[in-house]
Amino acid sequence: MQKQYVVAIVGASGAVGLELLKLLDSEKFPISKLVLLASSKSAGKKLKFKGKDIEVKETTESIFEKEGIEIAFFSAGGSVSEKYAPHAAKAGALVIDNTSFFRMNPDVPLVVPEVNPQDIFEYKSRIIANPNCSTIQMVHVLNPLHKAFGIRRVDVSTYQAVSGAGLKGMEELVNQTKEYLEGKTKPTPKAFKHQIAFNLIPHIDVFLDNSYTKEEMKMVNETKKIMHADFDVSATCVRVPVIRSHSESITIKFDNVVDADDAREALSKAENVVVIDEIAKDIYPMPTISTDTDFTYVGRIRQDISDKSIIHLFCVADQLRVGAATNALRIAQKYIAKN
Ligand code: A2P
Repeated sequence: MQKQYVVAIVGASGAVGLELLKLLDSEKFPISKLVLLASSKSAGKKLKFKGKDIEVKETTESIFEKEGIEIAFFSAGGSVSEKYAPHAAKAGALVIDNTSFFRMNPDVPLVVPEVNPQDIFEYKSRIIANPNCSTIQMVHVLNPLHKAFGIRRVDVSTYQAVSGAGLKGMEELVNQTKEYLEGKTKPTPKAFKHQIAFNLIPHIDVFLDNSYTKEEMKMVNETKKIMHADFDVSATCVRVPVIRSHSESITIKFDNVVDADDAREALSKAENVVVIDEIAKDIYPMPTISTDTDFTYVGRIRQDISDKSIIHLFCVADQLRVGAATNALRIAQKYIAKN
């Protein structure tokens, strides 16, 4: 009989935590007990799982041992992972951490199961990191192209949904849009630096000394770690008034000439990637297509007009699923399959 696991979601009341709960509820994941954890603010609140109410508990250092947690999904911010993930791991749990805190730690594998599943079992301290949401969908596309043609350089501009800023980001877009339509044209921004309704903001996470943002450098550094590659990457990350799917315009320079049809063919064979690229019928990837799905959609695949070794393309994926909860779940499923 298949082993059943005691599973915890840390940050269960947040945007990613709730998505994970939904996925665990609908998928056949072998769970003997689900423990929902958040801050003291949510303790006592009830959330539904498999038709029953589960009470949310406060995250503490001792709860992982007390509850016998075997797999812990963390999605409650970097400082919560920093403080509690080591306690969960020490209590014997496999931690799958959705925050950036451990991602570049050389002892912590950074995994996208379609790209580097072999790294899952390289963990040294029972912690595996889930990459940045924009990085996950980008490497879904880059990996098959790198294997087929050899990438020399990548330039990416993102159009990132407000779900990346959690529930407060999603609420802010909805509320500000309503306020704006009611005539309040100078809303007070809280979750973002500037108004997000009817605007876009070329600034995600903090600015660094090199004038890139931390979000942009996550895309640069995480891509290299996941793909075990050393090609150059440069990113410009932009927050846009879209609820929960990120879009990316990617320019890829290869070692040699690459035909658009050959790139399309390589992408059409990639796991969990869907090519939708029929410009004659106005069919291409958009956030409305990827939302609430587990696939990365890619289209607008075309050769550069002046350099035949450059391909441009556009990809979209659901930030809360492909970029967070689904990737974490796929890591856990691979771990379970091997166990
Ligand atoms: P809570 O709702 O109790 O504050 P989001 O990404 O949507 O903003 O959600 C963040 C998640 O992280 C929420 O579930 C939130 O719980 C949780 N969280 C925030 N601070 C802590 C903390 N100190 N300990 C545990 N969970 C926390």
